Amino acid sequence: MKLLVTAGPTREYLDPIRYLSNRSTGRMGYAVAAAASARGHEVVLISGPVALPRPAGVSVVDVVSARDMLAAVSEHLPASDVLVMCAAVADWRPSEVSERKLKKRMMSPVLELVANPDILGEVLPYKGERLFIGFAAETDDVLEEARGKLVRKGLDMIVANDVTRPGAGFEVETNIVTLLTAERTDPLPLMSKADVATRIVIWAEDHLAEAR
Ligand code: CTP
Repeated sequence: MKLLVTAGPTREYLDPIRYLSNRSTGRMGYAVAAAASARGHEVVLISGPVALPRPAGVSVVDVVSARDMLAAVSEHLPASDVLVMCAAVADWRPSEVSERKLKKRMMSPVLELVANPDILGEVLPYKGERLFIGFAAETDDVLEEARGKLVRKGLDMIVANDVTRPGAGFEVETNIVTLLTAERTDPLPLMSKADVATRIVIWAEDHLAEAR
């Protein structure tokens, strides 16, 4: 299979010094890329700014903003069988980006934002016979929220995780996730992100034929 995996946060700059972002470290997406490569698949990893070593055998495309990530996903999607959107894409960006450092005296305490594109939403019309897998990191009504995104975003599977649980979510090597499809709710126990990643890749191996 050919997998296109996104990972990490995006950064939305206000000026050359400051940006808006989130806590994603990229570990889950890098683990998916590494697991897929280890199982003999071809992987393109589109990575936001992270501090992780590049997984062996994976082709990495570095991006910064949500709009960069959308451009990279659009470019590489046609040659892919499976899209795994692990990235924590910033939903908003500052309405203006200054090329020079903004001085405190010039700034207002209210930041004006504009919506970033929803990457999955933008590429859904080009899904064809590909599998689309998304992630939902939630704090409340986790399965309900994830199920809503599964349907709304046209996904084949969504990986839901409750980031409030110890051993799950950001900055840890483990995760507690539920794999959700239209037919099944499959809660997995606490396991390493590497093992979660392998389960996701095996799911894709088992279901790509059905998408065709
Ligand atoms: N996603 C995306 N483009 C965005 C935001 C999110 O493609 N601009 C993808 C994520 O990579 C993930 C899925 O959509 O696979 C769900 O992301 P999430 O941030 O939970 O969804 P949102 O639509 O931003 O929902 P909300 O902020 O309302 O929870």
